[in-house]
Amino acid sequence: MHQIFQTIFPQILDKIPSPGVLMLCGNQEKENLITLGWLHFGSIWNYPSLTIYVRSSRYSYPFLLENPDFTINVLSKQYQKEIQFCGSHSGRYCDKFKETGLVKAPSKKITVSSLKAAEIVVECSIIGNVPFLQEQISDQIQAQFYPQGDYHQQFIAKILNIKEK
Ligand SMILES: Cc1cc2nc3c(=O)[nH]c(=O)nc-3n(C[C@H](O)[C@H](O)[C@H](O)COP(=O)(O)O)c2cc1C
Repeated sequence: MHQIFQTIFPQILDKIPSPGVLMLCGNQEKENLITLGWLHFGSIWNYPSLTIYVRSSRYSYPFLLENPDFTINVLSKQYQKEIQFCGSHSGRYCDKFKETGLVKAPSKKITVSSLKAAEIVVECSIIGNVPFLQEQISDQIQAQFYPQGDYHQQFIAKILNIKEK
């Protein structure tokens, strides 16, 4: 798995912070797509890992608390419009699969779906959930990113499977 760090991670890093990757999360009744631009890859607790940062105001947020599994879907440049849509509309008010035409595909190790169009799919399961606390963040970051609170929460996930097209 660690060889993946050298081959897959640079391809994903190329997409962040912009145009972003699509995280697919949810449960048996509903799944949702959200564009993410902030990711960290590495190794923790002896697992190859990926950390995502999701604000508590996102519709996607409670899904991650309810079901630890999610997929990170890396799409080619031709899907820029769809990625932008998922990063500017909330699943509270629309069905992003219907609106973008993005089609789900089954994942290998988890029940949460992947995207058929993805060039790379990373299947993940959350093993740590760490909130940012106000006193831990510099005044400059506080003022720039959190004038209204609504902090990002860090979700540390182990990587269960990586699929390349
Ligand atoms: C390029 C890009 C990167 C983004 N990165 C993040 C991120 O890392 N974390 C986050 O919470 N929101 C991020 N967003 C904002 C969410 O994608 C956006 O608020 C989305 O509409 C939330 O969808 P939801 O309410 O259905 O969960 C990003 C948006 C864009 C366009």
